[in-house]
Amino acid sequence: MSEQSERKRVILSGIQPTGTFTLGNYIGAVRNWAKLQDQFNCLYMVADLHALTVRQDPAALRRNTREAAAMLLAAGIDPAQSILFVQSHVPAHTQLNWILCCNAQFGELSRMTQFKDKSAKHPDNVNGGLFTYPALMAADILIYNADLVPVGQDQTQHLELARNVAQRFNNAYSPTFTLPEGYVTKEGAKIMSLADPTHKMSKSDTNVNAFILLTDDRDTITRKFKRAVTDSDGVVRYDPANKPGVSNLIAIYHIFTGKSIEEVEREFDGQGYGVFKEAVGAAVADGLAPIQGEYARILADKAYVDGVLKEGAAAASRIADRMIQKVYRKVGLLQL
Ligand code: AMP
Ligand code: TRP
Repeated sequence: MSEQSERKRVILSGIQPTGTFTLGNYIGAVRNWAKLQDQFNCLYMVADLHALTVRQDPAALRRNTREAAAMLLAAGIDPAQSILFVQSHVPAHTQLNWILCCNAQFGELSRMTQFKDKSAKHPDNVNGGLFTYPALMAADILIYNADLVPVGQDQTQHLELARNVAQRFNNAYSPTFTLPEGYVTKEGAKIMSLADPTHKMSKSDTNVNAFILLTDDRDTITRKFKRAVTDSDGVVRYDPANKPGVSNLIAIYHIFTGKSIEEVEREFDGQGYGVFKEAVGAAVADGLAPIQGEYARILADKAYVDGVLKEGAAAASRIADRMIQKVYRKVGLLQL
């Protein structure tokens, strides 16, 4: 690394390989990751260990992990510029996880809304990993002294916990960890379900019309947007509180066309939702087409993807191993 790049701030983010990414993942997280590469030292990770907090089919998890990496490459993550790796390939994350578990409090972990949601959704598998999930996420971030963490809004509570644990550790021992900040873009921080715009778009939704997958073809995208739940007043106006469905579509269109919210409202002034939904579908299909082309090309070359991940794991380990040694020393684990 040159001196110049050493002065750049560090970014880390992760995404779980629990299925094909949705438009929500793309807009809320992945799209921003590629854009940040010039300005920052970026590390991007496929969070396979986090995926294990929900029962996974082993073969599907392996496939999804490689596909997730291929999709990140297709979405513009450049391995010449950033470090792309799989979480379980860098064991220091799990080593730091234990130390942080011992510094995270039962009370604060109990307050996590994702824990409450997922416990309610899988009452037969409320496992210890689900509970301590945020400590592992904190380890992912703190082990690289990341300054910024680009995520969607649903992850901000976990980020706050990471800051609190880092601060607690720094106070108990000595300044060790950088306190990370969230990087959440205003529009698109929370893309809503097309079937129920009061809930976030999620790849685990049982209704396939609720989400757009990055691999959906043009016809599927068009059809899903046509069916998107809106309201009965027929006016294309941005008002998330009273018109969540329409506002969600406006946000998506705004992101894919670069037109401002006001411009979008003006463009569809006096026109019905049919015309508007058609336009949103077309804009998304056009925007995703190049990514889909790249994805197919990259995924066909397994050896390339695996090579990138191997190099990524080695580069990430060099940083993470140094940090875990430092942490072990600070907490008083005997070093020989
Ligand atoms: P996950 O699918 O839970 O691994 O999420 C990966 C990333 O996508 C995280 O940064 C999430 O905050 C983000 N994300 C997931 N769903 C949405 C959504 N509906 N809108 C915006 N961001 C999202
Ligand atoms: N928990 C995140 C999610 O579900 C994924 C994740 C794991 C992550 N480790 C991270 C995100 C570290 C940011 C930083 O979306």
